[in-house]
Amino acid sequence: MEVDGRKYRTVWMEGSTVFLIEQNLLPFEFRIKELRTYSDCCHAITIMTVRGAGAIGAMAGFAMALAFMKAPSQDFLLFVMKARGEIESTRPTARNLFYATERVFSEGLISREAAMEEAHRIADKDALDSKMIGEIGNVLIPHGARIETHCNAGWLAFVDYGTALSPVYIAHERGKEVFVYVDETRPRSQGARLTAWELHNAGIPHVIIPDNAGAHLMSQGKIDLVITGADRIAANGDTANKIGTLEKAIAAKEYNIPFYIAAPTSTIDITCKSGSDIIIEERSPEEILYQEGPGEDGKNHKILVCSPGSAALNPAFDVTPGKFITGIITEKGLIRPGEENIRNLLKL
Ligand code: MRU
Repeated sequence: MEVDGRKYRTVWMEGSTVFLIEQNLLPFEFRIKELRTYSDCCHAITIMTVRGAGAIGAMAGFAMALAFMKAPSQDFLLFVMKARGEIESTRPTARNLFYATERVFSEGLISREAAMEEAHRIADKDALDSKMIGEIGNVLIPHGARIETHCNAGWLAFVDYGTALSPVYIAHERGKEVFVYVDETRPRSQGARLTAWELHNAGIPHVIIPDNAGAHLMSQGKIDLVITGADRIAANGDTANKIGTLEKAIAAKEYNIPFYIAAPTSTIDITCKSGSDIIIEERSPEEILYQEGPGEDGKNHKILVCSPGSAALNPAFDVTPGKFITGIITEKGLIRPGEENIRNLLKL
């Protein structure tokens, strides 16, 4: 994706340095960060300097490869196993993270070079899959469509292109008129800060809406379809995505509005039989109680936005049952949820 006329990926690696866009600074500052150890990569995933299923998958792959590169010959296996454990304990819900560590770990047991090559392959494949999702999803977007999306499943959430937004970018490039309703996505505001920034940069008409406005707009006939991403898809098509997705899906069903999930097949976890097997990350209450942003002095400020003394609960994801999902757009094609369809798609 282009920023100020220069092409960027969200995360990439050159030699033994990992580069990433510092997402916590956006949309107020665009800065690239450099990381040189797997522990630094873990920290970046935990505090969400890098976030979004595909981007943290690519980062986890690079982190695993770095661990292989830096592992001492003595205690080699112990070192890389410990590293894998640390990488996998950063964030529990996004399947892509575990997909990446599993693959790079297996290759690393062959050689350090193989680990590095696999990490690059995972990142390249993520970008390629996202582009293909855009091509397939574009077919579902009519000229003049008004689309609601939740959270950020744009290029910042993947290595490039994104998933939920990839069809929107392609539709726009091909000359279709599109308008996007962007859920602000409390508490971390990935919609208001990241999706809105991406769409603004791409010149795509959009408006940020409060998280609780979706059903109202649907009831007024203002939304033609909903597309969101996914963090993990169970074998039966139940899908974990950013908290608040479930409400949109239920409302969309009520108003007969198509509700699509866009995700690469690397997000499917066949070992989870249904959504109830998916581990839901719970993040710090601080994310609810406080908000951050630049003040009039241009410096970053953190302010309390809730009643002092109250506690807060912060589940980061929810699970949308397959019955609310019209279709899952993957790089291999569009399918309806259901175990048989998913197994056929994966040729299992
Ligand atoms: O907590 P995040 O920002 O890493 O959450 C991931 C997401 O951006 C969403 O859940 C998204 O819709 C699916 S992953 C691209």
